[in-house]
Amino acid sequence: MVGVPNSTRYLTHHNTFYNSGEGSRKKGSFPIFAAMQVVVSGTRPTGVLHLGNYLGAVRNYVRMQDDAAYEGYFFIADYHSLTTHHQPHELRSLVKQTTAAYLAAGLDPEKVTIYLQSDVPQIPELYLLLNMLAYKGELEKVATFKEKIKQHKENINAGLLTYPVLMAADIIIHRAHKVPVGKDQEQHLEMTRNFAKRFNSRYDVDFFPEPVAFNYDAELVKVPGLDGGTKMSKSGSVSSVIFLDDPDDVIRKKIMRSKTDSGPTEPNTTPPQEIENIFVLMEHVSDTSAVAHYRKAYSDCSIRYGDMKKQLAEDMIAFIAPLRHRINETLANEAYLERVLQEGGEKARESAKKTIHEVRNIMGLNYF
Ligand code: ADP
Ligand code: TRP
Repeated sequence: MVGVPNSTRYLTHHNTFYNSGEGSRKKGSFPIFAAMQVVVSGTRPTGVLHLGNYLGAVRNYVRMQDDAAYEGYFFIADYHSLTTHHQPHELRSLVKQTTAAYLAAGLDPEKVTIYLQSDVPQIPELYLLLNMLAYKGELEKVATFKEKIKQHKENINAGLLTYPVLMAADIIIHRAHKVPVGKDQEQHLEMTRNFAKRFNSRYDVDFFPEPVAFNYDAELVKVPGLDGGTKMSKSGSVSSVIFLDDPDDVIRKKIMRSKTDSGPTEPNTTPPQEIENIFVLMEHVSDTSAVAHYRKAYSDCSIRYGDMKKQLAEDMIAFIAPLRHRINETLANEAYLERVLQEGGEKARESAKKTIHEVRNIMGLNYF
């Protein structure tokens, strides 16, 4: 290995790496953690979390936290939310909302590290260093960048272009292996792997693992909206999104008004997108028998959309209401939210400092 002293070894696992700079530690001196993999994920505080965020990402954070195979870092990506111009007072309340939603969903600060991206200065440092390995051409080709510049022609800023570099820094700052995210983030993860590989090969080290997008099921999840679109999104119209703090009557109204057509006229046809979306949403929150019942009714043309929507609305309410109650309870306890983020920030900085120390050594940024 060029540029790295022989006695410095970089194993692919965060907890097992050691280096000569801090005094040689023997391989195997962290036997308990040897099998653990590092998990990192984050959410932008650009709005109240919705069903898509919960099913595609946050629910998996919670499952991974309770899985002995993983050591979890879950954060609020506040820097990432600045790529589109924001209101400072709104950001403050959305950061609290997002933290409360993490806790309400079951994340436990005793088991995982919950923190704010902007509380870890090593992340922007790594971002700056990775920017030297990121090329304008590849960044311009990213689908989310192309979409965003169409939406915000007046604000095509460098932060938007380098969004995937900051995201890579978020992930590899803890030398992560797995990243629980929805399907829309697949390309960003591919970029993260490219930057990690490029760093390793540029400096001839085996330092950063190549992290992968993760979901417990075979496929990454993509929860559809209520407007016929294939992705529920904070940036979509309010009526197409089920927010985790929507009251029961709001959920009922949104679902009853969701887009449908005039119904199948021939048996065994494939439902159009907006009807398929309702089935997909039912698959997430209703009993399998209810889904099977309405699928069959669609096939034999006996379906009544009003009944199907009523069923979905009641099942959705049963799914969301407990989350909403916990979010509101947690939000009321500001001191607790602040403590969680403060303690999480300290733990995240500890882990990040180790990585940055190594990165600086590897890059020759250690002068004396
Ligand atoms: P949004 O797209 O609504 O702005 P974010 O980009 O903040 O949401 O996404 C936060 C997390 O939630 C990411 O892991 C993302 O993949 C996931 N996510 C967002 N929307 C959906 C969806 N409709 N289905 C599945 N996962 C989603
Ligand atoms: N880009 C992600 C999104 O829009 C948010 C995010 C930022 C993220 N940094 C991350 C997700 C690191 C996972 C890991 O949803």
